[in-house]
Amino acid sequence: KFDSSSYFGRIHGILMYKDFVEFWDDVEAFEARPDDLVIATYPKSGTTWLSEIVDMIYKEGDVEKCKEDAIFNRVPYLECRKEDVMNGVKQLKQMASPRIMKTHLSADLLPGSFWEKNCKMIYLCRNAKDVVVSFYYFFLMVAGHPHPGSFQEFVEKFMDGEVPYGSWYKHAKSWWEKRKKPHVLFLFYEDMQEDIKREVIKLMQFLGRKPSEELVDKIVQHTSFHEMKNNPSTNYTMLPDEIMNQKISPFMRKGIVGDWKNHFTVALNEKFDTHYEQEMKGSTLKLQTEI
Ligand code: PPS
Repeated sequence: KFDSSSYFGRIHGILMYKDFVEFWDDVEAFEARPDDLVIATYPKSGTTWLSEIVDMIYKEGDVEKCKEDAIFNRVPYLECRKEDVMNGVKQLKQMASPRIMKTHLSADLLPGSFWEKNCKMIYLCRNAKDVVVSFYYFFLMVAGHPHPGSFQEFVEKFMDGEVPYGSWYKHAKSWWEKRKKPHVLFLFYEDMQEDIKREVIKLMQFLGRKPSEELVDKIVQHTSFHEMKNNPSTNYTMLPDEIMNQKISPFMRKGIVGDWKNHFTVALNEKFDTHYEQEMKGSTLKLQTEI
């Protein structure tokens, strides 16, 4: 079992990286601009994939421009504070509009300024079982995480919401409740895997762009798992090993739907399903695609 106290603190009762907690006041007081675009996800839900797609849309398919800088500079991570390598608030303050940013905050923790200004927001939801698998490897390879213990132990922490960003269930539901706002788009990772062209068109329409066939094809090609895995500006290899050790597990790990089947035992799966049903009772949030 991991001892979380030396790595994590809490924000409004939710487990969070210690450095982030220390500078939380700066995040809470963050001033949004009306043309900001927020990409929100629970960790490990395809944030980087969606970020690259959106940046390609903003840059009208200019691959070379997208390759000029790492994804974590083009799409800063709002609440992140890892020394000065990644300092979301500072990066964003210096950034010209229109800004694209990523956050893993739940809808109720997102700074009020974004809601007051009706900023566009895209939430990407991924099935909880694949999220927990991806999160487990992330714990192993990224500094600032205690050893996650066995996979089963980690899944139990996840079910209890005792991982950074807290309960997946509450997180997904918090954003699901906002989906009908005209400035919010709710997407599923599994739908992107099923038909990426359809989802890119949906995204472009939401962003008020004309989805020409040529541009959509270019975006789909450039943001495939294979392309992004081999692209230094998207695969996080620009971060030093001390922060992210990709020899343990690559950031672009598998990028598939259903890897949980290779990790869950039958008993753990049953336990997870029962708990899932309880947590999601009364919610209409359902994955659209079979997993
Ligand atoms: S983070 O650290 O929370 O921002 O991670 P995040 O980007 O949200 O999620 C990482 C997982 O997304 C997979 N990924 C992709 N899947 C399909 N296509 C593309 N292009 C793609 N890019 C990233 C990545 O492999 C991680 O999932 P796992 O299951 O670990 O492979």
